Amino acid sequence: VSDPLLEVAALVLRESGVVIRESQLPSLEAAIRRVQPGMTAEQLLTRAGHPGERESLVDRLIDEVTIKETYFLRHREELAAIDWRGLAARAMSAGRTNVRVWSAACASGDEPYSLAILALEAFSPGAAPVDLLATDIAASSIARARAGRYGMRSLRHVEDELRERWFEPQAGGLEIGPAARALVRFARHNLHSDPVPPAGEAQFDLIVCRNVLIYFEPEGVRETITRLRRALVPGGELILGAADRLTGGPDAVSRPAPVEPPARRARPRRSPSARTPRRERRGAPAATPLDAEVEFERGLTAMAEGDATAAVDALRRALYLDPGHAAAAFQLARAHEAGDDPVAARRAYWQALALLDEAGEEVGGVSRRDLQSAARSRLAALGGG
Ligand SMILES: C[S@@+](CC[C@H](N)C(=O)[O-])C[C@H]1O[C@@H](n2cnc3c(N)ncnc32)[C@H](O)[C@@H]1O
Repeated sequence: VSDPLLEVAALVLRESGVVIRESQLPSLEAAIRRVQPGMTAEQLLTRAGHPGERESLVDRLIDEVTIKETYFLRHREELAAIDWRGLAARAMSAGRTNVRVWSAACASGDEPYSLAILALEAFSPGAAPVDLLATDIAASSIARARAGRYGMRSLRHVEDELRERWFEPQAGGLEIGPAARALVRFARHNLHSDPVPPAGEAQFDLIVCRNVLIYFEPEGVRETITRLRRALVPGGELILGAADRLTGGPDAVSRPAPVEPPARRARPRRSPSARTPRRERRGAPAATPLDAEVEFERGLTAMAEGDATAAVDALRRALYLDPGHAAAAFQLARAHEAGDDPVAARRAYWQALALLDEAGEEVGGVSRRDLQSAARSRLAALGGG
């Protein structure tokens, strides 16, 4: 691995807060080549040294390296908990006519449009008094979000009734309809270095920031959460993704401002198992369950992106940090299969089955039985059981 590549990784971290791990360096190299075919890390650094070129080059690089996996109504339970009418009542009593919402790191717009749809449903048949700002660091994401056209994969969790009500048919998919579109404004914004709230914006009643902090360093996560909380009106709510959440348990969907520093006290949902003692016996580094959840989520995202190597790496880390993480073992097996390593896949499926024996009825939102039968049938297919 060449040093210039590590310098480019450091540049990405400085500019965006996004950490690039050693296992991701080949992907970084590929991203540099996507910025310009044939460009090396060294050439990129030289060109980034010219003030005239730096900004656009770095922007394009960050656009290429960021993971943009998203879909409508992702982790719906987090969004379904929003009390739109309560938020509106509080905004009105503060003398405002609209609920101010910020979807930070909105990717291609699936999240802010999902929020718009939920708000429209909550106020139906009346108008939704909601002003939604949606931002992302990547220009390509903002362009896609503004276009508002989606394939069926993005809409897989949207039931027919909602599709019919809030979308319009379009070749190969659906386009977001005018009612939801009218509620959302898009802008580019870098959570790591731009002002929070974004320039020209007042404080928000609700901020949704999900599945982006998992790519930041712990210090960056803490700082960003602190800044986001300060961008809330008193009593405003911050919704982080399950893996991003550092400050509360499963019911910490919303958090009043202002802020206590996000100490590492998180206790995400876990199925009953003897995980911690086992981890201690094996002498793994001090870590919270959250660390394992972050790695788990990273692994799933890498799988969704088709990067089996990064997925194996992240899922292995998840299992190292939480050796009782049955879902991580199962997904690790899938990642090994995707990476064409049937021997490792078999081993991981057996490990998943052993861990599932100790797990609760539900594992990572999936029934234990389903995971067990999936693991057994994959083992049979792989010739291992
Ligand atoms: C995995 S997507 C999450 C999208 C959506 N929030 C969701 O949960 O489905 C992460 C997004 O974060 C954006 N991102 C990464 N670093 C960022 C930063 N420093 N500021 C703003 N957005 C950033 C990426 O461009 C990407 O679109």
